[in-house]
Amino acid sequence: MGYKVVVAGATGNVGREMLNILAEREFPVDEIAALASRKSLGTEVSFGDKTLTTKDLDTFDFSGWDIALFAVGSDATKTYAPKAAAAGCVVIDNSSLYRYDPDIPLIVPEVNPDAIEMYKNKNIIANPNCSTAQMVVALKPLHDRAKIKRVVVSTYQSVSGAGKEGIDELWDQTKGMYVPGQEVAPSKFTKQIAFNVIPHIDVFMDSGDTKEEWKMIAETKKIVDPAIKVTATCVRVPVFVGHSESINIEFEEFLDEDEAREILRTAPGILVVDKRENGGYVTPVECVGDFATFISRIRQDVTVENGLNLWCVSDNLRKGAALNAVQIAELLGRRVLKKG
Ligand SMILES: NC(=O)c1ccc[n+]([C@@H]2O[C@H](COP(=O)([O-])OP(=O)(O)OC[C@H]3O[C@@H](n4cnc5c(N)ncnc54)[C@H](OP(=O)(O)O)[C@@H]3O)[C@@H](O)[C@H]2O)c1
Repeated sequence: MGYKVVVAGATGNVGREMLNILAEREFPVDEIAALASRKSLGTEVSFGDKTLTTKDLDTFDFSGWDIALFAVGSDATKTYAPKAAAAGCVVIDNSSLYRYDPDIPLIVPEVNPDAIEMYKNKNIIANPNCSTAQMVVALKPLHDRAKIKRVVVSTYQSVSGAGKEGIDELWDQTKGMYVPGQEVAPSKFTKQIAFNVIPHIDVFMDSGDTKEEWKMIAETKKIVDPAIKVTATCVRVPVFVGHSESINIEFEEFLDEDEAREILRTAPGILVVDKRENGGYVTPVECVGDFATFISRIRQDVTVENGLNLWCVSDNLRKGAALNAVQIAELLGRRVLKKG
């Protein structure tokens, strides 16, 4: 016997990837429902070799359904996730709405799987921000060995992190650059994104950090260790899919770059590609559609006592969202629901 699974936001970037990944990983599904807003009623989406017709989230009855994977943004999540949870369906949510609630677990299965037990508090589990998810997969095995004191991270985040509208804006603006009269003004992004980079993701906070930067700080503390100090600069770049991060780490103890490479090679969810030659590293276009978080450019930072630099790349729609959510569903199945 398998699970009755709902995917809410099935017409979106993350929702579509969730359906792909559930099929690819042969998640034990007995029945599946694809939900979106009323305007998408009847839209067809793929689930493996099947085609599903989307239903309206607003009128859906969650009674009798086991797991709901939500990717609808915070506003719609606020309205519908409590209804699903109250009906006995465990919600795994991709928005930021519940991530900082101390009663709700925030999980990256390779890092803090034991937090799953907390799901019982509200029948809701939160999925982290895309930039955090890939970074903590890399930090955890290194932290276990040499205790991380401080992290300085700069991100290079693709436009798909801003949803369907982000992808459309980069595409239309790029085409418009070549056709006189068809220039596209910024709308989803604050400045031109084609052939440009923008050091601003999400809203500004009083501290001067953006909310995206704050999320990386708060989520790393909740998932890995509250003692780790993080400072982040998050930048949108004209890449369709795949987030990259330059991560500088300061440890309590010395960690040699060769040992760090070996630790990362055997760590779950990571693939090390680190040759000191032309092309001996991974770039975002190569990570698209992959499950792994790729680590390259591992090297000592000799400007501090115990420092290391690395380059981290992953498919933000997968490890940064849909894959991590499906991995949480797998963990929930194995540890708690035990069907399938
Ligand atoms: N993209 C990423 O890298 C990433 C990473 C981590 C987390 N997330 C989070 O995942 C969520 C979805 O992101 P996305 O990139 O997939 O966005 P998206 O491509 O814009 O898709 C949004 C989805 O939500 C549905 N939706 C929106 N409002 C709704 C409502 N009121 N009722 C029912 N359905 C509604 C949309 O349905 P319609 O098509 O009918 O409008 C669509 O299916 C967001 O919370 C985002 O922050 C995204």
